[in-house]
Amino acid sequence: PLYKSMFGLSELEEKLRKAFGLSRVIIVQGDSETSIQTKRELGRAACQVLRGALKPKDVVAVTGGTTIAQVANQLTTTTAMKDIWFVPARGGLGESLDYQANTLASTMAKRTGGHYRLLHVPDHLGEEAFASLMQEPNIREIVDVIRSARVVVHGIGDAMIMARRRKLDSEVVAEIEAEGALAEAFGFYFDRSGAVVHQMQTVGLRLEDIVNTELVIGVAGGKNKGEAIAAVMRFGHNDVLVTDEAAALEMAGLL
Ligand code: G3H
Repeated sequence: PLYKSMFGLSELEEKLRKAFGLSRVIIVQGDSETSIQTKRELGRAACQVLRGALKPKDVVAVTGGTTIAQVANQLTTTTAMKDIWFVPARGGLGESLDYQANTLASTMAKRTGGHYRLLHVPDHLGEEAFASLMQEPNIREIVDVIRSARVVVHGIGDAMIMARRRKLDSEVVAEIEAEGALAEAFGFYFDRSGAVVHQMQTVGLRLEDIVNTELVIGVAGGKNKGEAIAAVMRFGHNDVLVTDEAAALEMAGLL
Protein backbone atom coordinates (compact mmCIF):
# COMPACT_ATOMS: atom_id res chain seq x y z
CA PRO A 1 0.00 0.00 0.00
CA LEU A 2 1.10 3.57 -0.72
CA TYR A 3 -0.33 4.92 2.49
CA LYS A 4 0.88 3.55 5.79
CA SER A 5 -1.13 4.45 8.83
CA MET A 6 -2.61 2.55 11.72
CA PHE A 7 -6.00 3.93 10.72
CA GLY A 8 -5.67 2.99 7.05
CA LEU A 9 -7.38 4.98 4.35
CA SER A 10 -10.31 6.07 6.49
CA GLU A 11 -8.17 8.65 8.23
CA LEU A 12 -7.19 10.13 4.86
CA GLU A 13 -10.82 10.08 3.73
CA GLU A 14 -11.81 12.08 6.79
CA LYS A 15 -8.98 14.55 6.30
CA LEU A 16 -9.99 15.29 2.70
CA ARG A 17 -13.69 15.30 3.55
CA LYS A 18 -13.15 18.05 6.12
CA ALA A 19 -10.63 20.04 4.07
CA PHE A 20 -12.91 20.24 1.02
CA GLY A 21 -16.22 20.41 2.88
CA LEU A 22 -17.60 17.21 1.33
CA SER A 23 -20.24 14.98 2.81
CA ARG A 24 -18.40 11.81 1.83
CA VAL A 25 -14.99 10.73 0.50
CA ILE A 26 -14.23 7.19 -0.59
CA ILE A 27 -10.66 6.15 -1.36
CA VAL A 28 -9.78 2.87 -3.04
CA GLN A 29 -6.29 1.42 -2.72
CA GLY A 30 -3.66 1.97 -5.39
CA ASP A 31 -3.17 4.20 -8.42
CA SER A 32 -5.74 3.96 -11.21
CA GLU A 33 -3.39 5.62 -13.64
CA THR A 34 -1.06 2.64 -13.61
CA SER A 35 -3.44 -0.13 -12.57
CA ILE A 36 -6.56 -1.05 -14.50
CA GLN A 37 -7.63 -3.08 -11.47
CA THR A 38 -7.61 0.06 -9.33
CA LYS A 39 -9.57 1.91 -12.00
CA ARG A 40 -12.16 -0.86 -11.94
CA GLU A 41 -12.32 -0.61 -8.15
CA LEU A 42 -12.87 3.12 -8.46
CA GLY A 43 -15.81 2.44 -10.77
CA ARG A 44 -17.16 -0.19 -8.44
CA ALA A 45 -16.98 2.10 -5.42
CA ALA A 46 -18.86 4.79 -7.37
CA CYS A 47 -21.53 2.22 -8.33
CA GLN A 48 -22.06 1.50 -4.65
CA VAL A 49 -22.50 5.18 -3.89
CA LEU A 50 -24.99 5.51 -6.73
CA ARG A 51 -26.97 2.43 -5.75
CA GLY A 52 -27.28 3.77 -2.23
CA ALA A 53 -28.38 7.22 -3.35
CA LEU A 54 -30.85 6.69 -6.16
CA LYS A 55 -34.58 7.02 -5.73
CA PRO A 56 -37.30 6.04 -8.18
CA LYS A 57 -37.87 8.64 -10.92
CA ASP A 58 -34.51 10.30 -10.34
CA VAL A 59 -32.81 12.00 -13.26
CA VAL A 60 -29.08 11.21 -13.25
CA ALA A 61 -26.80 13.29 -15.46
CA VAL A 62 -23.47 11.67 -16.34
CA THR A 63 -20.33 12.86 -18.07
CA GLY A 64 -18.08 10.91 -20.41
CA GLY A 65 -14.53 9.63 -19.99
CA THR A 66 -12.77 6.38 -19.24
CA THR A 67 -13.43 6.57 -15.49
CA ILE A 68 -17.19 7.03 -15.74
CA ALA A 69 -17.13 4.22 -18.32
CA GLN A 70 -15.90 2.00 -15.46
CA VAL A 71 -18.95 3.08 -13.47
CA ALA A 72 -21.33 2.46 -16.36
CA ASN A 73 -19.90 -0.95 -17.16
CA GLN A 74 -20.21 -2.23 -13.62
CA LEU A 75 -23.54 -0.78 -12.60
CA THR A 76 -26.05 -3.36 -11.52
CA THR A 77 -29.65 -2.77 -10.66
CA THR A 78 -31.61 -2.51 -7.45
CA THR A 79 -35.35 -2.23 -7.18
CA ALA A 80 -35.00 1.48 -6.40
CA MET A 81 -33.45 1.94 -9.81
CA LYS A 82 -36.58 1.12 -11.74
CA ASP A 83 -37.81 4.24 -13.41
CA ILE A 84 -34.58 6.15 -13.31
CA TRP A 85 -33.64 8.41 -16.19
CA PHE A 86 -30.01 8.58 -17.27
CA VAL A 87 -29.01 11.56 -19.41
CA PRO A 88 -25.73 13.07 -20.59
CA ALA A 89 -24.69 16.06 -18.48
CA ARG A 90 -23.70 18.09 -21.52
CA GLY A 91 -23.60 17.84 -25.30
CA GLY A 92 -20.71 16.71 -27.48
CA LEU A 93 -17.28 17.58 -26.08
CA GLY A 94 -15.11 15.72 -28.56
CA GLU A 95 -14.73 12.34 -26.85
CA SER A 96 -14.50 9.13 -28.85
CA LEU A 97 -17.77 7.23 -29.08
CA ASP A 98 -17.05 4.65 -26.35
CA TYR A 99 -16.46 7.39 -23.80
CA GLN A 100 -19.13 9.89 -24.75
CA ALA A 101 -21.65 10.89 -22.12
CA ASN A 102 -24.49 9.74 -24.41
CA THR A 103 -22.98 6.26 -24.66
CA LEU A 104 -22.46 5.98 -20.91
CA ALA A 105 -25.97 7.22 -20.08
CA SER A 106 -27.49 4.61 -22.38
CA THR A 107 -25.22 1.86 -20.96
CA MET A 108 -26.31 2.73 -17.42
CA ALA A 109 -29.96 2.65 -18.39
CA LYS A 110 -29.63 -0.69 -20.15
CA ARG A 111 -27.74 -2.26 -17.27
CA THR A 112 -30.27 -1.13 -14.68
CA GLY A 113 -33.49 -1.44 -16.66
CA GLY A 114 -33.88 2.32 -16.49
CA HIS A 115 -34.56 4.88 -19.22
CA TYR A 116 -32.34 7.25 -21.11
CA ARG A 117 -32.53 10.31 -23.28
CA LEU A 118 -29.73 11.37 -25.57
CA LEU A 119 -28.55 14.82 -26.55
CA HIS A 120 -27.40 15.04 -30.14
CA VAL A 121 -25.41 18.22 -30.36
CA PRO A 122 -22.33 18.04 -32.60
CA ASP A 123 -18.94 19.12 -31.24
CA HIS A 124 -17.28 22.40 -32.18
CA LEU A 125 -20.33 24.10 -33.68
CA GLY A 126 -20.12 27.64 -35.05
CA GLU A 127 -22.11 30.36 -33.25
CA GLU A 128 -24.87 30.51 -35.84
CA ALA A 129 -25.44 26.79 -36.15
CA PHE A 130 -25.37 26.54 -32.37
CA ALA A 131 -27.96 29.29 -31.92
CA SER A 132 -30.36 27.73 -34.41
CA LEU A 133 -29.94 24.27 -32.92
CA MET A 134 -30.96 25.74 -29.58
CA GLN A 135 -34.28 26.78 -31.12
CA GLU A 136 -35.14 23.15 -31.84
CA PRO A 137 -38.01 22.06 -29.59
CA ASN A 138 -36.69 18.49 -29.17
CA ILE A 139 -33.28 19.79 -28.07
CA ARG A 140 -34.90 22.25 -25.65
CA GLU A 141 -37.00 19.46 -24.21
CA ILE A 142 -34.07 17.16 -23.42
CA VAL A 143 -32.05 20.11 -22.09
CA ASP A 144 -34.87 20.77 -19.63
CA VAL A 145 -34.74 17.14 -18.49
CA ILE A 146 -30.95 17.38 -18.01
CA ARG A 147 -31.28 20.58 -15.99
CA SER A 148 -33.76 18.87 -13.69
CA ALA A 149 -31.19 16.20 -12.66
CA ARG A 150 -31.10 15.46 -8.93
CA VAL A 151 -27.83 13.57 -9.24
CA VAL A 152 -24.71 14.31 -11.32
CA VAL A 153 -21.90 11.78 -11.77
CA HIS A 154 -18.79 13.23 -13.34
CA GLY A 155 -15.15 12.57 -14.14
CA ILE A 156 -12.32 15.04 -13.63
CA GLY A 157 -9.39 15.50 -15.97
CA ASP A 158 -6.14 17.41 -16.19
CA ALA A 159 -6.91 20.60 -18.16
CA MET A 160 -4.17 20.31 -20.75
CA ILE A 161 -4.69 16.60 -21.34
CA MET A 162 -8.43 17.12 -21.81
CA ALA A 163 -7.99 20.17 -24.04
CA ARG A 164 -5.82 18.13 -26.38
CA ARG A 165 -7.99 15.02 -26.17
CA ARG A 166 -10.96 17.19 -27.16
CA LYS A 167 -9.00 18.67 -30.03
CA LEU A 168 -9.42 22.31 -29.06
CA ASP A 169 -7.69 24.79 -31.37
CA SER A 170 -4.11 25.40 -30.34
CA GLU A 171 -4.88 29.11 -29.66
CA VAL A 172 -7.65 28.10 -27.27
CA VAL A 173 -5.34 25.60 -25.55
CA ALA A 174 -2.72 28.35 -25.13
CA GLU A 175 -5.40 30.73 -23.83
CA ILE A 176 -6.72 28.43 -21.16
CA GLU A 177 -3.20 27.48 -20.15
CA ALA A 178 -2.37 31.19 -19.73
CA GLU A 179 -5.50 31.53 -17.59
CA GLY A 180 -4.10 28.93 -15.24
CA ALA A 181 -6.49 26.08 -16.05
CA LEU A 182 -5.56 22.97 -14.09
CA ALA A 183 -8.68 20.88 -14.27
CA GLU A 184 -11.58 20.03 -16.52
CA ALA A 185 -14.96 18.65 -15.57
CA PHE A 186 -18.28 18.72 -17.50
CA GLY A 187 -16.68 20.84 -20.22
CA PHE A 188 -15.68 23.56 -17.76
CA TYR A 189 -12.04 24.43 -17.07
CA PHE A 190 -10.99 25.37 -13.53
CA ASP A 191 -7.91 27.08 -12.13
CA ARG A 192 -6.14 26.15 -8.88
CA SER A 193 -8.64 28.04 -6.75
CA GLY A 194 -11.62 26.33 -8.37
CA ALA A 195 -12.64 29.35 -10.48
CA VAL A 196 -14.00 28.59 -13.96
CA VAL A 197 -11.66 30.09 -16.57
CA HIS A 198 -13.14 28.62 -19.74
CA GLN A 199 -16.19 26.68 -20.86
CA MET A 200 -16.90 24.66 -23.95
CA GLN A 201 -19.76 25.73 -26.14
CA THR A 202 -22.38 23.08 -25.73
CA VAL A 203 -25.73 22.69 -24.00
CA GLY A 204 -26.91 20.81 -20.95
CA LEU A 205 -25.91 21.58 -17.39
CA ARG A 206 -24.90 25.18 -16.74
CA LEU A 207 -22.75 26.12 -13.78
CA GLU A 208 -25.81 27.32 -11.90
CA ASP A 209 -27.44 23.93 -12.41
CA ILE A 210 -24.41 22.17 -10.93
CA VAL A 211 -24.42 24.57 -8.00
CA ASN A 212 -28.06 23.69 -7.36
CA THR A 213 -27.86 19.93 -7.94
CA GLU A 214 -28.71 17.96 -4.80
CA LEU A 215 -26.04 15.28 -5.19
CA VAL A 216 -22.84 15.83 -7.18
CA ILE A 217 -20.54 12.80 -7.27
CA GLY A 218 -17.00 13.19 -8.64
CA VAL A 219 -15.12 10.06 -9.64
CA ALA A 220 -11.43 10.44 -10.48
CA GLY A 221 -8.09 8.97 -9.47
CA GLY A 222 -4.44 8.69 -10.43
CA LYS A 223 -1.39 10.43 -9.01
CA ASN A 224 -1.21 12.99 -11.82
CA LYS A 225 -4.84 14.02 -11.34
CA GLY A 226 -4.40 15.00 -7.68
CA GLU A 227 -4.03 18.72 -8.37
CA ALA A 228 -6.90 18.73 -10.85
CA ILE A 229 -9.22 16.94 -8.43
CA ALA A 230 -8.31 19.40 -5.67
CA ALA A 231 -9.09 22.32 -8.04
CA VAL A 232 -12.58 20.97 -8.80
CA MET A 233 -13.20 20.30 -5.09
CA ARG A 234 -12.31 23.95 -4.43
CA PHE A 235 -15.03 24.95 -6.89
CA GLY A 236 -17.01 23.75 -3.91
CA HIS A 237 -20.13 22.07 -5.23
CA ASN A 238 -19.30 18.40 -4.88
CA ASP A 239 -20.98 16.30 -2.24
CA VAL A 240 -19.12 13.05 -2.78
CA LEU A 241 -15.64 12.27 -4.07
CA VAL A 242 -14.66 8.76 -5.07
CA THR A 243 -10.91 8.62 -5.63
CA ASP A 244 -7.85 6.45 -5.20
CA GLU A 245 -4.97 6.39 -2.78
CA ALA A 246 -2.45 7.94 -5.19
CA ALA A 247 -4.63 10.97 -5.99
CA ALA A 248 -5.70 11.30 -2.34
CA LEU A 249 -2.08 11.48 -1.20
CA GLU A 250 -1.36 14.19 -3.77
CA MET A 251 -4.41 16.13 -2.61
CA ALA A 252 -3.42 15.81 1.04
CA GLY A 253 0.02 17.16 0.11
CA LEU A 254 -1.62 20.36 -1.19
CA LEU A 255 -3.41 21.15 2.07
O1 G3H B 1 -13.83 15.50 -17.50
C1 G3H B 1 -12.87 14.77 -17.42
C2 G3H B 1 -12.79 13.56 -18.16
O2 G3H B 1 -14.04 13.08 -18.43
C3 G3H B 1 -11.95 12.54 -17.47
O3 G3H B 1 -11.72 11.50 -18.34
O4 G3H B 1 -11.88 9.55 -16.84
O5 G3H B 1 -10.94 9.35 -19.13
O6 G3H B 1 -9.66 10.54 -17.36
P1 G3H B 1 -11.01 10.16 -17.87
